[in-house]
Amino acid sequence: MFTHHSTTKLVFLLVLSTGTSSLAYSAPDSATLDIIDARQKAFTALESQTKAVKKTLDGSDTDWQNLLEASEQLVVNSDALNGAFALGTLEGSKAKESVWSKPDKFNRLMQQMQQGYQQVALGAQNQSIAEVEKGLKAAESTCKSCHRSYRSRW
Ligand code: HEC
Repeated sequence: MFTHHSTTKLVFLLVLSTGTSSLAYSAPDSATLDIIDARQKAFTALESQTKAVKKTLDGSDTDWQNLLEASEQLVVNSDALNGAFALGTLEGSKAKESVWSKPDKFNRLMQQMQQGYQQVALGAQNQSIAEVEKGLKAAESTCKSCHRSYRSRW
């Protein structure tokens, strides 16, 4: 009786674990791919908008209106990354498992990047080159550090 019971249990566990592993390897659905695509686009936009803002900086010849618009886009795109790393959106992306297993540093760097871009926008409003540069530096100091820990190379 006891033997029979544990065999049943074992078979049940085997079925369960096979089921789980096949789930882990199934192709991501289209809603998941949309989330991944949106966050990759946001990062790509941040990269090109950061370059655009840097080009705009030109001492007393700075085009402040242009700089303000570009920096507002930086704020929008960096804020759009909040909640963009929903659970279950690993497969089909370049994110590493550590995004979910070690979120503290990930969240800290994300926040640091967002605050940097907010400072860029404030600097643009105040027409302060120094403040814009400080914000850019803060934001850009997060990219490599986060990629090293949280983005796979392929
Ligand atoms: C908090 C972590 C974090 C920060 C900060 C961060 N990134 Fe990323 N980045 C990632 C992750 C994770 C991915 C992979 C996303 C995916 O494939 O779903 C990524 C992807 C990218 C991509 C590739 C998008 C694609 O289509 O594959 C670019 C470009 C990029 N980041 C640029 C930047 C730049 C520039 C900065 C700094 C200004 C930055 N990132 C800051 C985590 C970060």
